[in-house]
Amino acid sequence: MNLFDGFGRSISYLRLSVTDRCDFRCVYCMSKDMTFLPRHRILSIEEMTLVAQAFNELGVSKIRITGGEPLIRSNISLLFKNLRELPLKEITLTTNGSQLIKHVRNLVDVGVKRINVSLDSLQADKFKTLTRTGKLKTVLKGIDAALEAGLKIKINSVILKHRNMDEVRDLVGFAIGRQMDISFIEEMPLGVINEHQREKEFVSSADLREHIAEVYPLTPSTKNTGGPSRYWQVENTSNYIGFISPHSDNFCSGCNRVRVTTEGLLLLCLGNEHNLDLRQIIRHNPNDIEGLKQHIVAAMQNKPEKHHFDLNGNKPQIVRFMNMTGG
Ligand code: GTP
Ligand code: 5AD
Ligand code: SF4
Repeated sequence: MNLFDGFGRSISYLRLSVTDRCDFRCVYCMSKDMTFLPRHRILSIEEMTLVAQAFNELGVSKIRITGGEPLIRSNISLLFKNLRELPLKEITLTTNGSQLIKHVRNLVDVGVKRINVSLDSLQADKFKTLTRTGKLKTVLKGIDAALEAGLKIKINSVILKHRNMDEVRDLVGFAIGRQMDISFIEEMPLGVINEHQREKEFVSSADLREHIAEVYPLTPSTKNTGGPSRYWQVENTSNYIGFISPHSDNFCSGCNRVRVTTEGLLLLCLGNEHNLDLRQIIRHNPNDIEGLKQHIVAAMQNKPEKHHFDLNGNKPQIVRFMNMTGG
């Protein structure tokens, strides 16, 4: 069975957010004082497993676990264990790296092969300022532990003109030195933040590419991970640099994904509000997976064609913060 949306796109990838909480407070993702959801509004591990199973039976073959920070969700190992029982092609994870050291073994044991780790600075003080609470050393140790255990890592860096643009080449060098790929992400206007003005911090992927290529010559590549990154290969290396450009290069025509938020809201697009409340459906009829599947199939017809992000708007079009959806 395959899941299709109204534009004929095949939906094979689910991003499942397991908690809205995070031990960091990245300046582009959260405001300083965040209120998190009360427990009863969050899907239980059993409910998340049911959602994953329904999507898998409908043809979804890749599930990415996201947050907030997914590795701080209580009993996350049970979810991984449950997912392992499903015939999925890939289970993967996007993490801030803070808890990697203690989870690496378990991730390998449940069949995770590659993970994405967010890292925006290699300078301890700047890392602290950007994440508000994070410790660079712990994240770097986590990255090394994961590499040692054989996990493939892609680094994600959100670049802000006046905060970490000066570290772009260092981040590339760091990735090359550890045989990791790296993606640079243009900041998206999700949620109201007050620490910087998004339009003033914007750096386009094209400018970044030019800046990197002065030191690391780049060749365009056809590599495709099914995500929005467009990849360039660093000449004379086996490393790739990805650029995720929601503003300067709309990638929506190839969209293959939907998201389920911590609260069980099926979000049909990161840049739009179209959604379906799966939690209500599940809690109304807890064991009816066939009914749940029918609702999911019908909801696909509401998937919008594309996102429209505008950095210059006075208020964000999307009020929810990124920690509700995990990116
Ligand atoms: P792979 O291709 O599987 O490596 O994953 P990915 O790059 O899609 O996943 P990751 O969780 O690392 O996300 C990287 C960034 O891409 C995040 O900031 C996401 O917000 C952004 N992103 C992922 N999917 C979409 C999408 O459908 N629309 C938009 N606008 N941004 C997305
Ligand atoms: N714009 C772009 N990327 C963001 N992320 C979090 N908030 C934003 C935003 N407003 C990134 C994180 C992480 C990924 C899941 O999403 O840095 O790498
Ligand atoms: Fe946490 Fe990731 Fe948001 Fe940073 S970007 S606050 S690590 S959820």
